[in-house]
Amino acid sequence: MVLRSASADLDTAALRKARGAFFTPEPLARYITDWAVRSVDDRVLEPSCGEAAFLLAAVDRLAALEATSTGQALLPHLDGVELHEDSAQAARELLTAAGVEATVTVGDFFGVNPGRQYDAVIGNPPYVRYQDFSGESRARSRAAALRGGVSLTGLASSWAAFTVHAAQFLKPGGRLGLVLPAELLTVNYAAGVRTFLLQNFEQVDLVAFDERVFPGVLEEVVLVLADGYANGPTDHFQLFQARNADDLANTTTPRLWRPIPPAGKWTASLLTSETLGAYSGLLATESFTLLETWGDTTLGMVTGNNKYFALSPARAAQLGLSKSDLLRLSPPGSRHLRGLSLTTAALTELGDAGAAVCLFRPAGEPSAAAWAYIAEGEAREVDQAYKCQVRKPWWRTPLVKPADLLLTYMNADTPRLSANKAQAHHLNSVHGVYLKPEHRALGSDLLPVASLNSMTLLGAEMVGRAYGGGMLKLEPKEADLLPVPSPALTKAAETALRRLRPQLVRLLASGQVVSAARLVDEVLLIGELGLPEAEVKALRQGHEELTARRVARGGASHVHRGDGGTVSRRANSNRLRRP
Ligand SMILES: C[S@@+](CC[C@H](N)C(=O)[O-])C[C@H]1O[C@@H](n2cnc3c(N)ncnc32)[C@H](O)[C@@H]1O
Repeated sequence: MVLRSASADLDTAALRKARGAFFTPEPLARYITDWAVRSVDDRVLEPSCGEAAFLLAAVDRLAALEATSTGQALLPHLDGVELHEDSAQAARELLTAAGVEATVTVGDFFGVNPGRQYDAVIGNPPYVRYQDFSGESRARSRAAALRGGVSLTGLASSWAAFTVHAAQFLKPGGRLGLVLPAELLTVNYAAGVRTFLLQNFEQVDLVAFDERVFPGVLEEVVLVLADGYANGPTDHFQLFQARNADDLANTTTPRLWRPIPPAGKWTASLLTSETLGAYSGLLATESFTLLETWGDTTLGMVTGNNKYFALSPARAAQLGLSKSDLLRLSPPGSRHLRGLSLTTAALTELGDAGAAVCLFRPAGEPSAAAWAYIAEGEAREVDQAYKCQVRKPWWRTPLVKPADLLLTYMNADTPRLSANKAQAHHLNSVHGVYLKPEHRALGSDLLPVASLNSMTLLGAEMVGRAYGGGMLKLEPKEADLLPVPSPALTKAAETALRRLRPQLVRLLASGQVVSAARLVDEVLLIGELGLPEAEVKALRQGHEELTARRVARGGASHVHRGDGGTVSRRANSNRLRRP
């Protein structure tokens, strides 16, 4: 008996967007409500109720419960809060027409003090992006989240604070059922919300969809069904999957995932059960380990002005700089690190082609030419850059020693590890990996080869974050968690991996990372570990799907796929998951 009024016609699309007013399709509201409302005397709150999609579903649910209960009288206790007067009025009228008296208060939900009196808080909060979510309303929302113990950054959309605030209205043991954007699973600003759910509830279930479920709205959503408020924590969630809103009766058997750490991304929810099984199975063995087992990943050097400090050999010669004024440098950017190593010959070649392979960094007393260049820098006000101002002398960039491996952390396809054979210094356009002494020889030689496998490629999508334009970014802490072959597995496959090297170099030179990974899979996953073909395929598929998803969400119309081809946003936007 979910009804609709015509009041929305008076409202404009722009006004509705500004307050995040997208009304929930009936089957979703019903599914959540039927799960959350369990007894005729349950008290129910729909915050940001719009036209009461969930309260109306609750009327039906309570009536059904009454019909099966033994003589309990139905005295519905249904409350709503809504910012928009007309929607609130429409909600009241619809509820009255449905035969119930419900209280629908007009106002900002963040201004309502939680009283911990509800058995079920259900609904679909507004998804207003931080750019459009400002002023007092945002400040109030952040204060409300903070009262729930979650500190949100300025990048958070409105739903994040809404979720935390909504839970505060529950009695101990109560249930929170919300429709949330799928970004809950992955975005960094939602880390606090993910932890909050696992910390405070006894059980957290998620329902994800193969298809988009909000007609005309691009946002992908997940249903969050959090049970047993104040009876937490739990260390895992269960994931159900449905094709679309009409298929909710046929969700898949649940999969279980323990995020590590709890605030870590819940990207696992986006994988098929086959892929998740293969991925967690391999992670649990000693054959795969985290990159931090091999060594430490850290940020590169910050000059304050790369144009001034990073010089081509020709420019350095023109300035008359001496050897002692310069250091060997992996040039800014990471394009040159798409192979397996950075050799001295490659660095020379790059320098000959005009790349900035010299870092201006006089070690001791600068030469006369260096003093002249320093004076030029001051005339150009390079010394006024923040990073230069905070060090003395301004022209001496703090040194970071040459790393064993260089890791590209901003990638259209996948992060690459290159052996730093040239022993070049590096800037903060790449990360440095410093291998532990016991793994240095093997790691410098073979980790760049061994890490080119489908498990690591998938792992990068799991631990990294999607960045503007569909790029995949890895912070050092995320790189630490990258699953890579263990030293023991790498050692065992040493000869075969070494034999592959020339072929890999050729493939990588033409951007065919995925094809290169297939060769390494043959050696490591199939040859050494004896993984069934189906599991290897599931890992590859998972990588392909997460990549397509990242690209589709990134806003770039095409992104290099890693097999020499490109992925089109449009072509992939509906193929994020397979049944
Ligand atoms: C996504 S709609 C959902 C409406 C309804 N729960 C449904 O599922 O159909 C979000 C609703 O929140 C309302 N809203 C936005 N900000 C609010 C706030 N701070 N307090 C209360 N309601 C708010 C909007 O007017 C809109 O009706």
